Amino acid sequence: MRMRPKKNREIRLEKVSSLFAKTNENKMVNIISNFENKNQKLFLEIGCGKGAFVTELSRRNPDACILAVERVQDVLMMAMEKAEREGCTNIAFLNENADNVDAFLPPKSIDRLYLNFSDPWPRKKNAKRRLTSPLFLERYKKILKDDARIYFKTDNIGLFEYSLETFKEANFILENICYDLHSSEMNENNIMTEYEKNFSAQGFKINYLEAFLG
Ligand SMILES: C[S@@+](CC[C@H](N)C(=O)[O-])C[C@H]1O[C@@H](n2cnc3c(N)ncnc32)[C@H](O)[C@@H]1O
Repeated sequence: MRMRPKKNREIRLEKVSSLFAKTNENKMVNIISNFENKNQKLFLEIGCGKGAFVTELSRRNPDACILAVERVQDVLMMAMEKAEREGCTNIAFLNENADNVDAFLPPKSIDRLYLNFSDPWPRKKNAKRRLTSPLFLERYKKILKDDARIYFKTDNIGLFEYSLETFKEANFILENICYDLHSSEMNENNIMTEYEKNFSAQGFKINYLEAFLG
């Protein structure tokens, strides 16, 4: 997500600083100190953008602990400001590149992982940057609990078909695969993201799958 540098960044970040995820000296997220409901499920969104999805997820799951990761600081700041405005108390935000996800999250800590409209990186030479590349799937395996689930959606059919293969090759079981989420029964509980609103308004169909390790 590209955007112009934000004015007053320091002041704005200071106002929402309590929403930053607390980390220990090794830059590992300290789950216990971040959330009041320590024994609840931990949901992770990678690439949260401006926060439309994660704030609604928070509203629908007030008891869950939610971690939102975004590598672009100004975009993350907008998500944090949205969470602050909406009074979300169960989201912690992290300005990190998910390349390191298994370094900043404890092993077997995540119950649900959401990948919404991940950058498609269409050129083959950039394939390893895709959030569903084999490299990333191996990182996720380390942080996912045994019964965890990954929820993936994208307008990009190339990325979707690529991901169907990479998930299978990494021994994930796939469920609820669909090529038109908004016309399917899975749409009932769907939370629209910013990109999703935009792309579906332009007539693009939304592809969706769930993946888990058996
Ligand atoms: C196409 S946007 C989608 C934003 C949002 N999920 C949505 O659906 O509206 C992808 C977002 O993922 C972020 N992103 C991409 N790769 C990332 C990575 N390796 N680590 C963290 N964030 C990443 C980008 O900065 C961008 O904000």
